[in-house]
Amino acid sequence: MRIEFVPVDTQAGANAALAVLAHEGAALSPEARAANEATGGALARAIAGGRFTGAKGQTLDLVAPHGLEAARVVLVGVDGSGAVEPEAVETAAAAAYQAVKTTGVSELVLKLGADAESAARAAFGARLAAYRFDKYRTTEKAEKKPSVTLVKIAAADPVKAQKAYEPLAALADAIVFSRDLVSEPANILHPEEFAARAKSLESLGLEVEILGEAEMAELGMGSLLGVGQGSVRESQLVIMKWLGAPDPSAQPVAFVGKGVCFDTGGISIKPADGMEDMKWDMGGAAAVTGVMHALAGRKAKVNAIGILGLVENMPDGNAQRPGDVVTSMSGQTIEVINTDAEGRLVLADALWYCQDRFKPKFMIDLATLTGAIIISLGHDYAGLFSNNDGLSEKLLAAGKAERETLWRLPLPAAYEKQIESPIADMKNIGGRPAGSITAALFLQKFVNGVPWAHLDIASVAWKKPSADPTVPDGAVGFGVRLLNRLVADAYEG
Ligand code: BES
Ligand code: MN
Ligand code: ZN
Repeated sequence: MRIEFVPVDTQAGANAALAVLAHEGAALSPEARAANEATGGALARAIAGGRFTGAKGQTLDLVAPHGLEAARVVLVGVDGSGAVEPEAVETAAAAAYQAVKTTGVSELVLKLGADAESAARAAFGARLAAYRFDKYRTTEKAEKKPSVTLVKIAAADPVKAQKAYEPLAALADAIVFSRDLVSEPANILHPEEFAARAKSLESLGLEVEILGEAEMAELGMGSLLGVGQGSVRESQLVIMKWLGAPDPSAQPVAFVGKGVCFDTGGISIKPADGMEDMKWDMGGAAAVTGVMHALAGRKAKVNAIGILGLVENMPDGNAQRPGDVVTSMSGQTIEVINTDAEGRLVLADALWYCQDRFKPKFMIDLATLTGAIIISLGHDYAGLFSNNDGLSEKLLAAGKAERETLWRLPLPAAYEKQIESPIADMKNIGGRPAGSITAALFLQKFVNGVPWAHLDIASVAWKKPSADPTVPDGAVGFGVRLLNRLVADAYEG
């Protein structure tokens, strides 16, 4: 799908849908009023004859309205009555795309706000809405496929709008890259393939190092390596660097991702039903890859490190057993009671390595860590756990701004009792009560006092169904927008 910024007097042609806004109470925007007049009041009559109120997300699609050349006119609700926020334009553009994508029109003309910022956000919304993972579909009927191949966005100054879109286009590319990683099945996206895709981002100016099992063994990463030892695929640790700050030696920010390319549970094997979902147990690593892509893509003025712990958790003759004791890079020993609590074992070594080598300003890890976070928060929030209130506040604000909302949960020292082991420094599960919290308390033992936040994204990495038109069902790419915003608002310049 192509995106073009065009002058405001551009007319939608016979193969196009025109999208315009309506506010609460079905009050028409100036562009919608113009379309209503051109059609002799067809929009007003369509509204009167139905239940369209202009509420956010509602659409009303008129076919072949007399008086306009356009094949369709779509009214999109945006709430409120006054100025339309760029964010509302973004979701309205996405809703318009969803409403007409398979109607047969090949063009969508968006007249949702002509200032450069609104036009840019419209482009961003349409781009995200049009995401599809269809590379393995060879027999899909043409009439089921999206028909829209060109989105034209009306702007007072198309050149200025194009310029305003550039950083958002970089962000959209990164989100799409992240969604593709999450969507990709595990027979294709094993640790080495994931590492190769991260390495391909060197074309954006990132530096990417890859450590294999021999190097990790040398570093003493017994915790991460134990998880991968039942897999025929080699575990990988990927280190991505973006040095965009004026001083390339300035202290970096750091992101660490759980990249379990497939989680069978290992010897503590999961039930068959729904196990296919565990191809997206690398959603944390995909988010980290995505945010590094975004920072490099828009040449962010920050030094950032991204670390991916990539493994496959399989049952096998060589797999780790319940009861095994492993020694982490930190020197702390862990009794592995349940091999399905593997994400924390991977992050233990990835977090320790990160702070040990890079001494970052902060570390934020992202992980599809616990089913319990879904029970706690449902699918509209990721869990936030942190040893630092300032960092937490910034993350909560960034999440709100980007519609990737977080909810902070506590880290009570008293609950550490639940992960005490009689034979090692800790055990890897803490029982049913507060399962997401004891997982986070486990991680905290590997951050060495560095300001740190853990985002448990098991609840949000994959949405089916999705209520946000910018997020088609499936991979969300959760975390890319959030962390890109955190850096832009608080750690650049
Ligand atoms: N990858 C899972 C968590 C998960 C569950 C993500 C559902 C997405 C949807 C994780 O590795 C896991 O298996 N966690 C266990 C921990 C338990 C053994 C303490 C869980 O949540 O059941
Ligand atoms: Mn697991
Ligand atoms: Zn897992």
